[in-house]
Amino acid sequence: MSLPGEVSRSDARGEERRYGPHALAPKSDAGALYARVSHAIPAIEWPFYAADIDATMTLKRSRNAVVLAHNYQTPEIFHCVSDIVGDSLALAREAMNVDADVIVLAGVHFMAETAKLLNPEKTVLIPALGAGCSLADSITPEDVRRLRRAHPGVPVVTYVNTSAAVKAESDICCTSGNAKAVVESLGVPRVIMLPDEFLAHNIAAQTKVEIISWSGHCEVHERFTAAEVRELREDYPGVVVLAHPECPPEVVAEADFSGSTAAMQGYVARHRPARLVLLTECSMSDNVAVQYPELEFVRPCNLCPHMKKITLGNIRRALETMQHEVHIDPELAAPARRAVERMLAVK
Ligand code: 13P
Ligand code: SF4
Repeated sequence: MSLPGEVSRSDARGEERRYGPHALAPKSDAGALYARVSHAIPAIEWPFYAADIDATMTLKRSRNAVVLAHNYQTPEIFHCVSDIVGDSLALAREAMNVDADVIVLAGVHFMAETAKLLNPEKTVLIPALGAGCSLADSITPEDVRRLRRAHPGVPVVTYVNTSAAVKAESDICCTSGNAKAVVESLGVPRVIMLPDEFLAHNIAAQTKVEIISWSGHCEVHERFTAAEVRELREDYPGVVVLAHPECPPEVVAEADFSGSTAAMQGYVARHRPARLVLLTECSMSDNVAVQYPELEFVRPCNLCPHMKKITLGNIRRALETMQHEVHIDPELAAPARRAVERMLAVK
């Protein structure tokens, strides 16, 4: 799994995973893969997944395709059919290096758009068109233009969780893994950072740069509360609390660590807390627990309904039917790509 800001081809099991059209799949696909996920998926459920896994592996080879999966995908997707896994930053970085003809993005629509921006000549497929994001839905290009008029000369830093049309109005993008570095890379006293209000406030607490925010929220992370964290500490003595920076600032203040999904994974790898809770989407704990079965994961579960629109079945169908292909208006693509590439150039 990638650390924030790091271009890595290691997978969630910490193995070096070569990827590309023919690199991943062993000959007997589903059978060989069950051992990886036996802690997460009961044996009785496995037959329901095996046929889709085998078919997907075969289709990937025949289509010269790779599957990029976000850390919130379910274990049978994340650990069994994906070639590259990670946080939004790692997926964007890795999308640049893919040498297959087809990219299937097991994640939400803005991630597929980012992959397409960076690979205009490749076919990028999203298995479910409805896989959106409450943050991406919270702001329009006209909102960005209005903000610019209200704050002339102030650069716009846009979270990747936005449409290509909003990115096209922006100076530079960021993810939760590099937001502070991006904000500070501009060398200015003030930035507009949109659309996630909580991420903006959490980053503002770490930098001298003044941040003008927008009012978007992630519908998954906004539900965590500081009271819930205090209750978790009472109910599970010694629990180490890791919070995603899309959580409200008072939740982050109660946590032991805050960072992107890959940064959380990095924290677990370094510290191996015996008992921990990841305040983020449910599947994240499932996927990390596969790698660390000896750790006790406390799991208050907030599901992302958009991430959960991606299933093994629709990944298979995407490769069978070559749908749904992501297209971006070329007039928007050029400025949107510039904003993403500027972000990727920040060390
Ligand atoms: P990261 O994986 O980049 O931390 O993002 C979390 C998220 O909510 C993506 O939708
Ligand atoms: Fe969007 Fe939140 Fe779902 Fe991520 S978890 S895709 S930010 S709604």
